[in-house]
Amino acid sequence: MSERTEADTVAVEVREAIAWVKFNRPEKRNSMSPKLNRQMLRVLNDLEFRDDVGVLVLTGAGTAWSAGMDLKEYFRETEAQGLKGVRHSQREAYAWWERLRWYQKVTIAMVNGWCFGGAYGPLFACDLAFCSEDAEFGLSEINWGILPGGGASKVAADLMPMRKAMYHALLGETLTGRQAEAAGLVNEALPADRLQERVTEVAKKLLMKNRETLKATKDAMRRVREMTYDSAEDYLIRAQEALNWHDKTDGRHRGMKQFLDDKSYKPGLSAYEKSK
Ligand code: ACO
Repeated sequence: MSERTEADTVAVEVREAIAWVKFNRPEKRNSMSPKLNRQMLRVLNDLEFRDDVGVLVLTGAGTAWSAGMDLKEYFRETEAQGLKGVRHSQREAYAWWERLRWYQKVTIAMVNGWCFGGAYGPLFACDLAFCSEDAEFGLSEINWGILPGGGASKVAADLMPMRKAMYHALLGETLTGRQAEAAGLVNEALPADRLQERVTEVAKKLLMKNRETLKATKDAMRRVREMTYDSAEDYLIRAQEALNWHDKTDGRHRGMKQFLDDKSYKPGLSAYEKSK
């Protein structure tokens, strides 16, 4: 095929408040080129504060989720431009992963196939991750002579127990979806034909909840991992107080009222009704 345009490297569809965002270079196994990295940041920017989007799902076209960085366009061609080219393309990639880590909406990685190296950046950036049982995950860097950079070592060390992470990084073998689930890289592995259904089900449950509370909660879960207990306690008080201000729907008072006065739901078992 003729070369894909920059705009065409990412596909987006919004259905019933879920934004389905796809790595869209199936012919290159969705490896991340500078074009794709630029387009992905544009797409994330466009979707982030849309009222008709509550949850974002990141998936891949074809047989791959993403085969990591594009060895030709991201490494070889940018290295040919010297340090300036290398740093520039790194910043473009890291920029959208960072945006995704702190995204306004809850994000779900729906890993439909290959997931290698640099793809661990967006995998970690998504709040939840579900994969197909026949997806394959690998830190393949060791197999072609580099260390797992771009955050990939950090992702493996943060998500996996140390022995498993070390083996994964040193051997460069792939993990199946089920093994990735056992290792902590994803929440659940499912048969391929059940994957989208399960992700949709989780997304719909999230859509029932207060959006500001979801954002405050996902940020809190990431932030407290690096804090002492005392710092976390203090941060969480301040984060809740900030949430009280940001949540113009006054969710917590409505949640309390529907439980204590109306007795219309039990917070231990489900979310309060947002429309009441
Ligand atoms: N960078 C550049 N091109 C790639 C990449 C990549 N990461 N992955 C696949 N492609 C290209 C291939 O070169 C090939 O292009 P061509 O048709 O022009 O020859 C096309 O995508 C299809 O790839 P195949 O290898 O034929 O696909 P197959 O389905 O047989 O294998 C697999 C898929 C296993 C993902 C294989 O392509 C592969 O090993 N890719 C590299 C994975 C990797 O190590 N990524 C880098 C991780 S390290 C990092 O991200 C920093």
